[in-house]
Amino acid sequence: MIRLGPEPEAESREPKIGSREPGADVIVIGAGAAGLATAIFAARAAPSLRVRCLDGARHIGAKILVSGGSRCNVTNRVVTERDFWGATPRLIARVLRAFPADRAVAFFAELGVPLHEEEHGKLFPDSNQARAVLEALLDEARRRRVTIETGARVTGLRAAPGGYVVERNGGAALTARAVVLATGGRSLPKSGSDGFGYSLAAGCGHGCVPTTPALVPLVLRGDAHRALAGVAHPAALTLRTGGKTAIRLEGALLWTHFGISGPVVLNLSRHWHRAVLDAPPAIAIDVGLSVLPGETFESVERWLLDETAARPRAQVATVLGARLPHAVAGAWLTAAGLDREITMSHLTREDRRRLAHALVDMPLAVEDSRGYTYAEVTAGGVPLDEIDTATMESRRQPGLYLVGEILDVDGRLGGFNFQWAWSSGWVAGQAIARALTAD
Ligand code: FDA
Repeated sequence: MIRLGPEPEAESREPKIGSREPGADVIVIGAGAAGLATAIFAARAAPSLRVRCLDGARHIGAKILVSGGSRCNVTNRVVTERDFWGATPRLIARVLRAFPADRAVAFFAELGVPLHEEEHGKLFPDSNQARAVLEALLDEARRRRVTIETGARVTGLRAAPGGYVVERNGGAALTARAVVLATGGRSLPKSGSDGFGYSLAAGCGHGCVPTTPALVPLVLRGDAHRALAGVAHPAALTLRTGGKTAIRLEGALLWTHFGISGPVVLNLSRHWHRAVLDAPPAIAIDVGLSVLPGETFESVERWLLDETAARPRAQVATVLGARLPHAVAGAWLTAAGLDREITMSHLTREDRRRLAHALVDMPLAVEDSRGYTYAEVTAGGVPLDEIDTATMESRRQPGLYLVGEILDVDGRLGGFNFQWAWSSGWVAGQAIARALTAD
């Protein structure tokens, strides 16, 4: 067990809530991004509070360390409710507005972690080290006398007069006047976030919107994609349920040995999972790929006609190769039933139309995603309307606060999920400090 800050006092099995010992004023269950932020902000706002984090993992901050390719995409230059899915935008906006991205930037600068901007507004630490982010948070927790206990898996939580009794590792009970559930979702379960937090929330009267992986690569049936493994290009993906477009996203796509990955795929994955979850069995769920994003069937057909007139003897593969990786051009000719050597002048009208169609809307046989093991986040979770978003306090159980990924809020790729952790942590930290120092 690692302890930061003062040593906790001796514990008995069933302590009295509100006495100075044992336990704490605030117990934060889960010391990931949201839990650490909540603990720090509560301790900053009310230094007299005894704030204690319990985490089941042996090592704190696994997800921060692996995030952003070990560089940690801390937040984004512009973060709005439109970058998130799950709960209603109005509720998400209320939390984000209380602690927007520029406050997160200032907070990390104060901790000695200045951030810089990269493409799509993503903000990374100047050191390009996720470890710098984690260490800054742990240093600040230490400065604020927050106690962090590792290897302390919470196995039981119940309300008691004056607060809560928290059971860890199936035994020793601690008490607290307020408890924060910051246990994350189900993604990357080896990091310690295995979904048990939903059971703790259910025990306190909370519901759970069914969960699915999100920001996760997709697995394709068959093996045609294998030949393209490692190839990346701009793309647009259209998800249709029952023939109707549900969402269309653009971005970079990466072919892999199992199927597809890359930003556009990760962003689409939650929508594919939600469609599968929500659609009646008879409704078809299709994903169409355009390798020429921004183009339509008509504009591609026009382009092919123009190229035929200008370069009748050029191979179609060469013409396509000017706009697509050569491996993709070849694969698309095969998929359209055309010889890879065919020249522009030999394309019949039907060939041209079939090819144009394949280029802007190739059906992808999505079989599944890579699941929680490879998902960056979890969609679904505790409904946000069961929480007072002015305080992050449960509407079901006074003195219980919920923050971060355990809630039914998932952001797109680009630093939005960490921003949700910082914002919800700030709101909860302030509210806890107010509530526990008022009496
Ligand atoms: P998180 O899951 O981080 O923490 C929960 C903690 O609770 C864990 O430490 C766990 O051990 C603990 N816990 C769970 N149950 C417990 C119990 N019963 N008792 C005690 N402890 C318990 N986001 C982003 O904005 N930018 C990025 O660059 C990335 N990159 C990225 C890469 C990868 C590979 C992944 C998997 C994820 C990302 N993310 C990301 C997403 C981001 O990491 C995620 O949204 C936040 O870490 C969620 O923070 P939480 O604190 O809510 O949960």
